[in-house]
Amino acid sequence: METSRRTVIAAAAAGLTAATIGTAHASGGKKPVRELFGKLADGTKVHRWSLENGGTRLKVLSYGGIVQSLEIPDRHGRYENVSLGFDNIEDYVAKTPYFGALIGRYGNRIAKGQFTLDGTSHQLSVNDGVNSLHGGAKGFDKRVWDVEGFASGSDVGLVLHYTSIDGEMGYPGTLRAKVTYTLTRHGDWRIDYEATTDKATVVNLTSHVYWNLAGEGSGSIYDHELQIAASRYTPVDSGLIPTGELAEVAGTPFDFRRSKTVGRDIRVAHQQLLYGKGIDHNWVLDKGITTRPEHVATLRDPSSGRSLRIASNEPGLQFYSGNFLDGTLVGTGGHIYRQGDALCLETQHFPDSPNHPSFPSTVLRPGQTYRTSTVHSFGA
Ligand code: BGC
Repeated sequence: METSRRTVIAAAAAGLTAATIGTAHASGGKKPVRELFGKLADGTKVHRWSLENGGTRLKVLSYGGIVQSLEIPDRHGRYENVSLGFDNIEDYVAKTPYFGALIGRYGNRIAKGQFTLDGTSHQLSVNDGVNSLHGGAKGFDKRVWDVEGFASGSDVGLVLHYTSIDGEMGYPGTLRAKVTYTLTRHGDWRIDYEATTDKATVVNLTSHVYWNLAGEGSGSIYDHELQIAASRYTPVDSGLIPTGELAEVAGTPFDFRRSKTVGRDIRVAHQQLLYGKGIDHNWVLDKGITTRPEHVATLRDPSSGRSLRIASNEPGLQFYSGNFLDGTLVGTGGHIYRQGDALCLETQHFPDSPNHPSFPSTVLRPGQTYRTSTVHSFGA
């Protein structure tokens, strides 16, 4: 149903008449193209890859695997970039709050940047008060990845590689990460994460796209409707570290089991909303860890009609309501980003899992392959 609607919308956007729409079909098969986006201070080139399939247009940087732009049509076939970002590499290096980036080695927080594994304690790079956030001071979001484009059958995509050396940011083991971005013929954006290690370590990779389905820079997402398939969440302390409790969402502002607007309960006087300056919490997905990606959340913007459905095999979802956007950044389209102008839906294992034996394990050992997948499906 949604797919055929997409085809009609894509055909309309391409200027096809009603008579020709019947024969229009999703493109597919065109290899991604690469251009120079900028250079880092040391002269390293950063490339931008452009790919398109099934009505979705994606631009990705070799720096951080960053989704620099993701365009999808609205109900009238009008394309808009629905992810926050910058139009130049300097801003990404100097001041990005992880816009569009790949996050590793550990998405989210590890308390005091410390954990003990097999009797050895490790001290990580601390970059968020006393805690380690998103892999430390120079995580995967700030590394230049090796990128190759592919067109295979009806899919097009990118394969990104990064090798993190033993001890980088305090993490044990050399971690070889491979991330595949695929655009399917239906316009779905699929992320497949893989990693191997030569010493026991912890790993939790995710993607940090800031979504605004009405278009980046168009204002607040408080009218977006969100549904999350989770009956529990992980309450946090004032440093946003989970207490260990898996609390029921029923009767709290965290109940998104039935679709509601993001803004509806965001100003309820609830201690957890005070800690997060809004929503910045991990939901415990009812489906748990699954072998294949299963439904996680649906986001919908009533004004444009655009929707995003997320499926993953991960057990958790961090929903961050853009609380720390403070009007100091100017985005891709030349608009200032303010609090609540976008939201992140980060599929993941739970925050601080290495210090919570009761949480699903994030340990990876030599000989094992870390594998997780998240699929983003768009509609209008
Ligand atoms: C975290 C926020 C953090 C943001 C960085 C999110 O994943 O949950 O606490 O401020 O990333 O921009």
